[in-house]
Amino acid sequence: MKRRNFMHNCLYLGVGTVVLSQVVACSLFDVKELNVGMVAEIAQKTYFITTFNRKDVLIRKVGETWEAISLICSHKKCTVEYKADNEQFVCPCHDGVYDKNGKVLSGPPPKALNRINIEDRNGSLWLVA
Ligand code: FES
Repeated sequence: MKRRNFMHNCLYLGVGTVVLSQVVACSLFDVKELNVGMVAEIAQKTYFITTFNRKDVLIRKVGETWEAISLICSHKKCTVEYKADNEQFVCPCHDGVYDKNGKVLSGPPPKALNRINIEDRNGSLWLVA
């Protein structure tokens, strides 16, 4: 192997190791905050779902502010589904139902869905743990 090829291979291996370690770190460890997009780009949506620390979160605009609600059921941690037509969250596991604010309407869930802090930082939305 020529010296130049060896150096290139070392460089690729180094870069690959850094990228892989970042991917593994992001998928295994919780992050403190996550940018979920520019307000100007997502303002037309009534809501969207993203993943924050390996859990689904619903983000929607309410008036002039944004809110983020965890889609993890408070009963046995199933992922609830958002039914936009009647603005309810429904858990497929044991039929728990939450209202549009995440408060329990019926079923076994012992408490409301968790709220996630969300901040508008100069037109950029961030979820904050
Ligand atoms: S896990 Fe959601 S109602 Fe049981």
